[in-house]
Amino acid sequence: MKYAVITGASKGLGEAIAKSLIAKQFAVVTVSRTENEKLKMMAQEKGTSYQHFSCNLSLESEVQEVFMEITHRVFQKEPSDIFVFNNAGVIEPIATVGHLDKTPIDRNITVNLTAPIMITNLFLHKAQFSDTAVHIINITSGAAVRPIQGWSVYCSAKAGLNMFTQTVASEQAALQTKHSIIAFSPGIMDTDMQATIRSSSEKAFKDLKKFQEYQEKGMLLKPDMVANALIDLTLSGNVESGKIYNVNDLLN
Ligand SMILES: NC(=O)c1ccc[n+]([C@@H]2O[C@H](COP(=O)([O-])OP(=O)(O)OC[C@H]3O[C@@H](n4cnc5c(N)ncnc54)[C@H](OP(=O)(O)O)[C@@H]3O)[C@@H](O)[C@H]2O)c1
Repeated sequence: MKYAVITGASKGLGEAIAKSLIAKQFAVVTVSRTENEKLKMMAQEKGTSYQHFSCNLSLESEVQEVFMEITHRVFQKEPSDIFVFNNAGVIEPIATVGHLDKTPIDRNITVNLTAPIMITNLFLHKAQFSDTAVHIINITSGAAVRPIQGWSVYCSAKAGLNMFTQTVASEQAALQTKHSIIAFSPGIMDTDMQATIRSSSEKAFKDLKKFQEYQEKGMLLKPDMVANALIDLTLSGNVESGKIYNVNDLLN
């Protein structure tokens, strides 16, 4: 049996990834603050295993506690493969430096960077005592490699996630394990995160008009299309561990 653990599956890209994997008969575990009832119903209809864990990923103690439980339960099933999608993300705070508050900084860094590090650590720790292959997929952003004024915290967290991905891949290659880790940049998608971006102010975010135009001109990618491209890549068996993939390379 193949397992997938997906953070932030209550909506947006995470929901699309979960739908795609339930359709492929994966046992799916979702993690977010709110549960997506549609996923639960879909899994019931397909007769597949589905479990939701409520967790606030901005709280390190909750991340540790919930993922200790998830890794315990999932490895107990002795699956051949576990796919872990570190997808949950937050864009805020949107503000130029000098106008940032501490709490949103902490929340951003913990959800976007610390939680994926802790989750990857827990899965690779457990994997040492099993035959299961662990595949980590970190959802990154073009903002990791391009400074965007007003998004300094998000850019920094995603840049950190890319470097974490590359470092872990290097370690696993040296250890000659069968585990893999990649980052995936999903492009600009039609999700609530874009709605949050469009509702910011031009004073806080210089490129506001450009992002409003993306929506007006129908340029936003559909999360289902992005998820399907990612799942095709992930299940292809041709994943290059340590690589930062970009959706545009997969769709062209
Ligand atoms: N949308 C884009 O254009 C775009 C572009 C580049 C990269 N990305 C990346 O793609 C990923 C998915 O983004 P999206 O656009 O699908 O975002 P979204 O629609 O805003 O969904 C975000 C997801 O993250 C979860 N989440 C947020 N804060 C959380 C917390 N404190 N604890 C637990 N879960 C939390 C939310 O669940 P709950 O609220 O239920 O907890 C939700 O399921 C993110 O990593 C994002 O950075 C998005």
